[in-house]
Amino acid sequence: MTATPALPASDPSRPTATVPGSKVLYGADYNPEQWDPSIWREDVALMRQAGVNTVSLGIWSWALLEPAPGQFCFDWFDEVLGLLVEAGIDVDLATPTAAPPSWFYRAHPEARLVEADGTYRNGGSRGICCPHSPAYAAAAARITDAVAAHVAGNPHVTMWHVHNEYGAPGGDCHCETSQAAFRDWLKHRYGCLDELNRAWGTAFWGQLYGDWSEVTTPRHSGTALNPTCELDFARFTSDSLLARFTAERDIIRKHFPRTPVTTNLMATNCPANDYWRWAQDMDVVSTDYYLEADSPESQIWLAMESDLTRSLAGNRPWILMEHAVSAVSWQPHNRAKMPGEERRNALAHIARGADGVLAFQWRQSRRGAEKFHSAMVPHAGTDTRVFREVCALGGELTGLDELRGTEVRARVALLWDWNSFWAQDLAWRPSVLMRHREQMRRVYEWLWDRGTTVDFVHPEADLGRYDVVLAPASYLISDAAAANVAAFVHRGGRFAALPFFAVVDDEECVHEGGAPGPLRDVLGLTVEEVRPIPEGCEVTLAPTPAAGVPQDAGAVTATVWSEHLRLAGARGVWNAVDGPTPGPAITVHDYGRGTAVYVSVVLQPRALATVLDPLLDLPIDKPATLDGGRPRNLEAVTRHATDGSGRAYTVLLNHDAVAHRLALVGNDLLTGRELHATEPTTLAPGDVAVVCHETTGDH
Ligand code: GLA
Repeated sequence: MTATPALPASDPSRPTATVPGSKVLYGADYNPEQWDPSIWREDVALMRQAGVNTVSLGIWSWALLEPAPGQFCFDWFDEVLGLLVEAGIDVDLATPTAAPPSWFYRAHPEARLVEADGTYRNGGSRGICCPHSPAYAAAAARITDAVAAHVAGNPHVTMWHVHNEYGAPGGDCHCETSQAAFRDWLKHRYGCLDELNRAWGTAFWGQLYGDWSEVTTPRHSGTALNPTCELDFARFTSDSLLARFTAERDIIRKHFPRTPVTTNLMATNCPANDYWRWAQDMDVVSTDYYLEADSPESQIWLAMESDLTRSLAGNRPWILMEHAVSAVSWQPHNRAKMPGEERRNALAHIARGADGVLAFQWRQSRRGAEKFHSAMVPHAGTDTRVFREVCALGGELTGLDELRGTEVRARVALLWDWNSFWAQDLAWRPSVLMRHREQMRRVYEWLWDRGTTVDFVHPEADLGRYDVVLAPASYLISDAAAANVAAFVHRGGRFAALPFFAVVDDEECVHEGGAPGPLRDVLGLTVEEVRPIPEGCEVTLAPTPAAGVPQDAGAVTATVWSEHLRLAGARGVWNAVDGPTPGPAITVHDYGRGTAVYVSVVLQPRALATVLDPLLDLPIDKPATLDGGRPRNLEAVTRHATDGSGRAYTVLLNHDAVAHRLALVGNDLLTGRELHATEPTTLAPGDVAVVCHETTGDH
């Protein structure tokens, strides 16, 4: 089998770059081209007032920098750059290739992106053209080179921001050029057509290909498409967009060999790209995150985004490149943040490893599609709650510079693989309710609630530093991943898999003998049949004596999914007592020196706690309050110094509407107060503390 390597080696000739400068980065996308030059001076003065030290410049400026093909205009840009430099504000300089100018669309209509149903994506908005278009590639290279050459040697350009959110809107193109590029990619992957026919299973529905020219991208067709074709197309699109990023990055490096290059990811929110591969090619990982403002769990999804981004960065610091200081403008209902909420959000990202917090955007637009999106300087000006909070946060962040470079040390990991997610969410699965995102979220929420900090990890990556590994949504498991998980358990690791686990290999072919394929020995069972539970129905589970919970713990209920398990060594710890599949539903199996737990039903976070807490012996990273217990909405994460000093920084965030009293020791960097165990510390509703303290040992 010819598989694309999951984790390409990073370029050894590059030094390990890091977040530039020595301060926690604070700032925004700066779009001065929307404003009269007289505003620019006010802007930089206000940036200084707010404590802004970095802005992302030029993201949407292609049409202004190159008003006609090959004709460049840097006058306005030089003036803005000069003002920023004079004010001591560093520039994260963008390549403006996410919004090709109108002249480009006029000259190259063939470069427009073609959707699966054949419709063209025209100009008039923003977004990449066809990522395989030679005309787009040439024009993007020309403007990238022109901008980088123009500022070459400028030390105030401290970072490069390539393009904007590759994959948003999606970059999957079905034009003729893309068809040819897809065929080339497939020839490289499979070598010959026979191998493609085998891997795609084209004998099914008589889809056999006799000539490469017959192979197409998964365009709109009669009914369900070939799933392996769709999976390969997702891989191909991610690779194609990554190639566009590295092309621009390499042009920049000719002019700025030592300046870190990034592009703003959308960690949990980007279905288009396999970011494990992308992160290898970035000097610094950055992401954009917009709060699900109407969700009562918004702080949980923010934390999940941060944990994934930190994991993509290889546990090195990362940058929150964009977020909204208050409302966004593209959700159905755009809730403005409450007083103090933005501070809590920003510090929550810092808690989980961010060394910079930037917003979209500096000044709120008066015209254009995003005029109702909040910004650091709102329409109503500086005499506003938003601007006052922006300034206050800027002041507080200057006291946190010593957190830079410190690291979060999780002992628990969740397997995360875009290949598996693409495959799981294809058409014609046993239940449309079994999407990967909800599965991941339920598990993450359970762990966040209890205060267990997690990393995300690629299933083929080194698991050695973790005590517990969970697979919430690993429908696709490659042979290498299965061997990795088996070795982890055998060495003594604690592992738990959730349903629809290890069903297919990386060709989307069902594992021989059924799920969980190559991990049947590890879990000690075979899934004989999956039996989805109709929407609105529940199944009752009761513990067996082996469950480790008091027998009067009560029942838990499951929804969406059940499986008929044939046990071969595993013991049932919770049994379904009604529903379509009475019998063992949750099992434990000893394998080597470790333990493998299987959960064959869908459980809500509270039920996951009841069932899995006694089985997995998970660490807890949040302190108990003096009033007893660990309140759900008290969040605590610790960043550790890497210099051997034993110094650590615990960020405590109170998302509750009531105060919590804690016995804390150390120095709160936000208030400057010394905290003693003998004097309770009260964390007011919505408040945050960043406590610097000494630790012994690794944790
Ligand atoms: C994205 C884009 C920004 C802006 C924001 C608005 O993240 O990168 O340019 O449109 O959304 O939330």
